[in-house]
Amino acid sequence: MNIILLGPPGSGKGTQSNNLVEKYNLSHISTGDILRSQIAQKTELGIAAKKYMDKGDLVPDNLIIDMVSNTTQSLQSILLDGFPRTINQAISLEEEMDKLGKKIDYVLYFEVPFGKLIDRLSQRISCRNCSKTFSKSDKEYVCQENCSEQDLYQREDDKPEAISKRMENYKDLTEPLLKFYESNGLLSKINADSSISEVSEEIDKILQ
Ligand code: AP5
Repeated sequence: MNIILLGPPGSGKGTQSNNLVEKYNLSHISTGDILRSQIAQKTELGIAAKKYMDKGDLVPDNLIIDMVSNTTQSLQSILLDGFPRTINQAISLEEEMDKLGKKIDYVLYFEVPFGKLIDRLSQRISCRNCSKTFSKSDKEYVCQENCSEQDLYQREDDKPEAISKRMENYKDLTEPLLKFYESNGLLSKINADSSISEVSEEIDKILQ
């Protein structure tokens, strides 16, 4: 089973990925996490990507497409989180999957009103070590995955200016993918404006 999670920044793609990879034995490919790890290692790709990411801009297609195709080739069942994000990326993914004799089975679209997303992103705390996310309003947000309180941080792109830019880019460049995947019958809408466990149950109903 190969799945794409599609949705605006803060809609809960990363949160649900954690549940899905275990439950359905999927390999998680989060382009955001891969890029942040490249930045931490100060690789050529990380240095190039950082200047786009910090401002809330998308990293250019050519860099992202190469990065993903290097990762997907050897994997069986994949969960794509944050890719594709442009029509070019979607077309190149289709070509890559064709070459490998594979296909996308589901595109899960996480729907949340924009106002709620801003709240979620400005409240988000991320773990540098394991990428798990928390909300500042959670009673207990010390990471349980053998990470320490020092590993928690606010992402540079979760600051107000970058959030606005990310939302703008989502509307202009990523939202057109909804029609793209609707037209080939792959799109399933998820009400992602409910509790984490309710979202998870709704996804299970689609996948089972
Ligand atoms: P990326 O890391 O992919 O960011 P994003 O798509 O903007 O998504 P987020 O990680 O912000 O949100 P999410 O949907 O995962 O929500 P989360 O589960 O954390 O990309 C970052 C940057 O990298 C991009 O801006 C771009 O520059 C670059 N990039 C990445 N991929 C690229 C690509 N393909 N092409 C070009 N550039 C690319 O949840 C958010 C918060 O809400 C958390 O605090 C969480 O605890 C909380 N929450 C989750 N679910 C719920 C719920 N149901 N109810 C209440 N709170 C909830």
